[in-house]
Amino acid sequence: MFLLDTLRDGLADLETRGLTRRRRIADTPCAAHMRVDGREIVGFASNDYLGLAAHPLLVEAMAEGARRYGAGSGGSHLLGGHSRAHALLEDELAAFAGGFVDAPRALTFSTGYMSNLATLTALAGRGTAVFSDALNHASLIDGTRLARADVSIYPHADTEALAAMLEASDAPVKLIVTDAVFSMDGNIAPLARLVELAERHGAWLVVDDAHGFGALGPQGRGTVAQAALRSAHLVYLCTFGKAVGAAGAAVIAHETVIEWLLQRARPYIFTTASPPAVAHTVSASLALIAGEEGEKRRRHLGQLIARTREILQGTRWRPVDSPTAVQPLIIGSNEATLALAARLDEHGLWVPAIRPPTVPVGTSRLRVSLSADHSFDDLDRLQSALARTGETA
Ligand SMILES: Cc1ncc(COP(=O)(O)O)c(C=O)c1O
Repeated sequence: MFLLDTLRDGLADLETRGLTRRRRIADTPCAAHMRVDGREIVGFASNDYLGLAAHPLLVEAMAEGARRYGAGSGGSHLLGGHSRAHALLEDELAAFAGGFVDAPRALTFSTGYMSNLATLTALAGRGTAVFSDALNHASLIDGTRLARADVSIYPHADTEALAAMLEASDAPVKLIVTDAVFSMDGNIAPLARLVELAERHGAWLVVDDAHGFGALGPQGRGTVAQAALRSAHLVYLCTFGKAVGAAGAAVIAHETVIEWLLQRARPYIFTTASPPAVAHTVSASLALIAGEEGEKRRRHLGQLIARTREILQGTRWRPVDSPTAVQPLIIGSNEATLALAARLDEHGLWVPAIRPPTVPVGTSRLRVSLSADHSFDDLDRLQSALARTGETA
C-alpha cells in the first residue's frame, strides 16, 4: 500500500542516516546497576540524579498513596480529579521552591512536557514575542509553536544577542524562555543576566529547571534558588521524573500567573490529573531531598561529577564544560557515536548515544548521566572501557 510504503521509506531513510532509535527493556528498577534486555549493566542513561527512583521510602509512599487515594484520579483537575494529595503537594512546592517571587503558588502537571505546553500557550499567543535559547528542550520549542507566537531564537546563552533582539522588539508582551540546566549539555543558563534583561524589557522569564530541581541549590531547591535570584518576572518549571525520582511536573510563580494557567491553559484543563499516589510520592521525595539524606546524596553526586570530568578530559573526544550530573562527550557523527556506545555496551556500560534532532547535526554525543547511586568503582569501569575503546576507535 502506498501509504505504508511512504512510512517504510521514511524509516529506511532514518536507518541510513544512523537516526533510528531503539528502546531497551528494563526488568529491574531504575538504578546504577540494572538488568536491561536480560543483561546486568551499569547504567549512565537515567535522569534519576539522586538515585531516588527505587528508594524504599518512595516505593512505600507510592503504595500508601494508592491505598489512600486509589490507582487513578478519575478526571481532570477541574472536573473531579484534583485530590488532597495534589493540593498538599502544591502548597509544599510553593513553600519549598517559590522563594523567588511574592505570593508564590504552584500548579502540578502529569508531565514536564505538558507543563511547558501549558505555560507557553497560556502566556503567549499571536503577537507575543518569544525569545528562545537555541538549545532549549523540545517541549519548550513545541510550546512556542503551539502558542503561534513570533519566535526569535537567540544563540545559546548569548545574552548580548538577546539584549539586542529585545531592544528591537516593540511587541506588547515579551517572553524569554530558557532551560536552567541544558539537558544535553549540562551547562547552566546565565540566569542572573536573564533576570536583568527580563526586568529591563518588561518580559516574562520562563525557566525550565527540569535538570536542576532536587539536584542543585540549597536543600535541592533548584537552580534559581542556587543563584539566589528573586523577580516578579520569573515563571519556574520543575519536573519530578528526574532528581525527584517519580513523575510529573509543576509550574511555580506569582499566584496570579498560576490562576491564569488554571483558567486558560488547555494542556492543564483537558487532560486527566495524574494519579494522586504520584503526588503523594513526590511529597515524600521532597521531604527526603530537603533533609540530611538529600544533602548526603548531593554531596556524593558532586564528587562523582568532579571525577567524571577528569575521566572525560583524559579521552580523545571533546567533553563539555558542565558542572552538573549531565556530562556529555561530543563525538561528532552519528555513526561514530553509535559505534562508541556499542563498544561500551560490550563492556556492560549503558551510555546513550544522543543524535539529531535532540542535538544539532554534527554534535552527536554520548550523554554520561550520573546518579548518587553510582560508586567510584562504576566510574573506574567507565574510564577503563573508554580507554580501551579509544585505542581502537
Ligand atoms: C529541559 C526539559 N524540560 C522538560 C522535560 C520534559 O519533562 P517530562 O519528562 O516530565 O515530560 C525534559 C525531559 O524530559 C527536559 O529535559
